[in-house]
Order: sequence, then structure tokens, then C-alpha cells
Amino acid sequence: MNKRSLSYLLLTVFLICCLVNCSPRPGDITIEHIDNPEVLSRGRHLVRGLAACGICHATEASPDAVLTGGRQMEDSYGKVVAPNLTPARSGLYGWKAVDIVNVLRLSKKPGGERILSDAHIGYEWLSDNDAYAIAAYLRSLPPIEKYNPRRSVSFFKRNTRGLFKTKREVKGYVPDLNPHNTAAYGAYLVDHVARCGYCHNTPGDLFNDEVYLGGGKTISFNGKSRVAPAITPSEIDGIGAWSKEELVAFLRTGLTPDNKRVDPQFCPVHFFAQASREELNAIAEYLKNTDK
Ligand code: HEC
Ligand code: HEC
Repeated sequence: MNKRSLSYLLLTVFLICCLVNCSPRPGDITIEHIDNPEVLSRGRHLVRGLAACGICHATEASPDAVLTGGRQMEDSYGKVVAPNLTPARSGLYGWKAVDIVNVLRLSKKPGGERILSDAHIGYEWLSDNDAYAIAAYLRSLPPIEKYNPRRSVSFFKRNTRGLFKTKREVKGYVPDLNPHNTAAYGAYLVDHVARCGYCHNTPGDLFNDEVYLGGGKTISFNGKSRVAPAITPSEIDGIGAWSKEELVAFLRTGLTPDNKRVDPQFCPVHFFAQASREELNAIAEYLKNTDK
């Protein structure tokens, strides 16, 4: 082998190694120094803001409430109480950041046990940086003991319900979106951070597909329920008649243009109010144009 082909060979081997290393799988990702103040404040901003973990993982839907779990809701397995997310024995004691990311992405707990992904639908495409920032922030919380009832799901239920919902495995690196690309950033925030569709999509059934932001799903917390309305750009049954500014104002205050106050225990407007103006503008921009 001459010198030239040897150097080509070495270069090829080098490039292959790079490619293999550049596509880490979840679980392999180790983001160095994630416990730095910038990452923690990003995590805090998301958890207490658009990602609104506390709408379920606190007894009261407020960004200031401790994340010790406690709200009861329903998913396709039936009633469930959201667990304690603080690093207490009754919560996430001993969990590594990647363990928390794997719950959001793969619905998998550290021991390999799977949880139903209904409540977290959409978060699986959080960018790696955002998912790790959320995990780092939860790990930095003061541990507060609170034991919430755990449900046990029968083997039969586990194998007959929600089967089609647990097949969304996200593998590989999910990059951040550029906030200046407003429409794409808005779509990311709506679908994967604030997850408006988790409540506002019309549920599908055997014969009908789910309708994006079409409304009609009943949302229950602690035995009370509300129906989430349509938030499509339709002027008839959606929010097409609202201006972008009115939509941003709604997300900050929970007040509709005709001065109706939405119930903040159901639509997480107290959390959305913590988001930045740039984030809320991107959401409004995207929602005004979802069908164009
Ligand atoms: C719509 C309600 C809801 C929201 C919002 C929500 N969760 Fe959850 N989460 C749940 C429920 C319900 C469970 C328990 C599921 C089960 O046991 O089957 C859970 C389980 C978990 C677990 C596993 C804990 C354990 O001890 O088993 C973690 C970690 C978690 N959630 C993190 C988060 C984070 C981080 C956020 C915000 C980015 C979040 N969740 C937002 C409802 C929610
Ligand atoms: C946890 C469930 C949930 C999430 C997540 C959620 N909403 Fe809501 N939303 C509701 C419910 C329930 C109502 C009706 C509340 C009521 O009747 O007081 C509502 C009401 C609204 C309304 C009032 C519509 C009208 O015509 O009066 C708007 C607008 C709205 N939501 C927008 C959003 C946007 C935008 C997002 C995402 C950024 C979002 N919601 C996320 C549950 C949710």
C-alpha cells in the first residue's frame, strides 16, 4: 500500500469514527457540566414556564408550588396521581439526569420499567439541551418528602390499552431550534414544550384520526373537569378572530378578548405567563398560521 492510499484509508476510518460518535443514543448522552447556573436557570424557566410540569406534579397548578406531585388525573389506564419530582426518597432520589430524560423521551424508568406516556406526549422531542436543563433543575430542588399513592396496572390493561401510543421512540441527538426562525420555533414550543395539543387536540378513536388543536377533549384534575375548546385558526370555532396581540395577552393573563377568564387550574396560563415575550410571540405567530 502506498503512502497516499494509506492516508486515504486512515482518513476514512477517522471519518467513520466521527460519524459513529456524533450520533449518540439517548442514554449515551453525557452533557458535561450540566449543573452550571446557566443550564439550571434555563431548566427553571422551562419547568415553571411553558413546560408547566406543575400543572400535574404539584397539588395546585401554580409555578410557585413545590413539585411534590399530588394532582390526580386520568389516562388510558385510568386514574393516576402524578408523582413527587423532588430528589427526596419518596421522589427522584438517586436519579441521574439521563434517567429523567429517559422518562420524558422513552417513558422508561431507571430500572427499565415503562410508564404510560399519555401525560408526557410531545416532550419526547424536547431538544437535548432543553431536556437536560429540565433534569438538572429538578435535581437541584430541595428534597421534600411526600408519598403519593402509586397505581398498579394489571397485566391485561397494560397489554390491551395504549398499545399504539408507546411506539414513538426518539433516538439520537435532538438539536436546539433557532429562536429567530419564528414559525419553526413556535411549532416546537406549541408541540413539544407547552404541548397545547395534549389538551386541545380532538381525541381520535377507531374510526377517526385525532384533529390537531380541534378541541373537545375532557381534561380532569382531582375529580373536576373542563372541556378544552378548539384553538385552530378557524374564525368560526377556533381563535381565528383573535389578533396575535390578543393571543399573547391571553397567554400572559388568561383573559380572552371578550374578557372571559379561563380556569388556570386547567389551562396552564399561570405558567405561560412566566415565558418570555419572544416565546409567546412565536407561539401566537405559529397558532395564527397552523393551517396555511
Ligand atoms: C399532564 C400531566 C403531566 C405533566 C404536565 C407532566 N407529567 Fe410527569 N408524570 C405524570 C404522570 C401521571 C406520571 C406517572 C405515570 C405512571 O405512573 O404511569 C408522571 C411521571 C413522571 C416521572 C416518573 C417519576 C416516578 O417516580 O415514576 C418523571 C421523572 C416525570 N413525570 C417528569 C416530568 C417532567 C420533568 C415534566 C415537565 C417537563 C412532567 N413530568 C410533566 C403526569 C405529568
Ligand atoms: C393541561 C391542559 C391544557 C394545556 C396544556 C393547554 N390548555 Fe388551553 N385550555 C385548556 C382547557 C381545559 C381550557 C378551557 C378552560 C375553561 O373552560 O375555563 C382551555 C382554554 C384555552 C383557550 C380559551 C379559548 C376560548 O375560546 O375561550 C385558549 C386560547 C387556550 N386554551 C390556548 C392554549 C394554548 C395556546 C396552549 C399551549 C401554549 C394551551 N392552551 C395549553 C386546557 C389546556
